[in-house]
Amino acid sequence: MTEQKKPLTLIKGHIIEAKSFSDPVITENGWLAVEDGVVQGVFSALPERYAGAPVEDYSDKLVLQGFSDMHLHAPQYPMLGMGMDLPLMEWLKTYTFKTEARFEDTAFAREAYLRLASELVNNGTTRVCIYSSIHTDATLILMEELERAGVGGYVGKVNMDRNSCECQESTLQSKRETLRWLDACDRFSLVRPILTPRFTPSCTDELMRWLGETARERGVFVQSHLSENKKEIALVKELHPDCEQYWQTYDKFGLWTDHTIMAHCVHSDEREQQAMIDHNVLCVHCPDSNINICSGFAPVRRMKERGVWVALGSDIAGGAQLPMLQVLTCCLRMSKARAIATEGLEPFLTVGEAYYLATSAGSRYFGDRDGFAPGNPLHAVVLDDAALPPSARTLTVKERFERAVYLADDRSIAAVYGSGRRIK
Ligand code: GUN
Ligand code: FE
Repeated sequence: MTEQKKPLTLIKGHIIEAKSFSDPVITENGWLAVEDGVVQGVFSALPERYAGAPVEDYSDKLVLQGFSDMHLHAPQYPMLGMGMDLPLMEWLKTYTFKTEARFEDTAFAREAYLRLASELVNNGTTRVCIYSSIHTDATLILMEELERAGVGGYVGKVNMDRNSCECQESTLQSKRETLRWLDACDRFSLVRPILTPRFTPSCTDELMRWLGETARERGVFVQSHLSENKKEIALVKELHPDCEQYWQTYDKFGLWTDHTIMAHCVHSDEREQQAMIDHNVLCVHCPDSNINICSGFAPVRRMKERGVWVALGSDIAGGAQLPMLQVLTCCLRMSKARAIATEGLEPFLTVGEAYYLATSAGSRYFGDRDGFAPGNPLHAVVLDDAALPPSARTLTVKERFERAVYLADDRSIAAVYGSGRRIK
């Protein structure tokens, strides 16, 4: 279901906002006022000026913020759950590059991306920072399908001109196709391009330098991978003996700048974390991927305490779960494994903290303020927990929220709003 933006709408329900990295702020039986798709405010009593406005009544349902999946690979959608016994570098060679190579076929791409976009919406993911493959045409198809479904965000044609098996481009081809792609992106309104050197091992210095210059000249953001796996880190060290740390292999080419996105950062030490803070780099924690392909446990609480900007990503298909509710609960489990391993030295994350990482932390990337702040475009997910198992007593709204985070799937998602309009 895709509806037009409406001049003024009131959304009624229990409104649950991730206003900070802590417990959510809950407005029971509240009103969320939206004008032309933009949030006007959250109210516990309806202000006089809104009397008589049309109401979308979700009374006794839970109104959450839309989810932002800040790192995932669209062409890995057909290989969800595959190769999960392999570590990163072997998994890439055995499964990933072969699967991504299929996206040269635009009909195959269309079918896969239509389905992916619809699954994102059904699960309440309203914004993404997503990798495509090396293929310009398939990348444009991905952008079309996301936009048609009402999903916003950044999409990257992947660049890779070495160590890339079936997906290898020549340096010239990579540059030429990137320009062809960038020039074709003006027609989109919800999705925008982001430059995507896959990771240091798959890009020559020449390509990295060119991407850095192009990012600066065109004012385009950059996304890549960082310090995910120990073998990967050793390879990067071999390729760039002049760099003491992995992040410097991006910095050296102008790819480590404000709003650069780095996925994983599992093994980033204090110095690498400080470089993220100094340059306003977004670290995307991908817990399901990190456990599946045995990369490690990212020190999320430590990073947050130091001031690193951290958000969440599904990283399909390293992650096997597309729904952000599942990524969120995986994040909680991983943080508990870390708390156990450090004997409580690093306390685990709470449901409210992980909800913040899955919503506001990512939506900041798109210029939003935390929570349903006035001025934000409306991104919301309505959860109906009525069909979840019966509870033994009346639950508080906070308890219902926490339970729904663990138990709800797309069947419990009654409505989704993305960029100001209803999309489910
Ligand atoms: N590093 C480089 N490419 C990839 C990828 O596709 N998935 C993951 N998890 N890590 C990567
Ligand atoms: Fe990834």
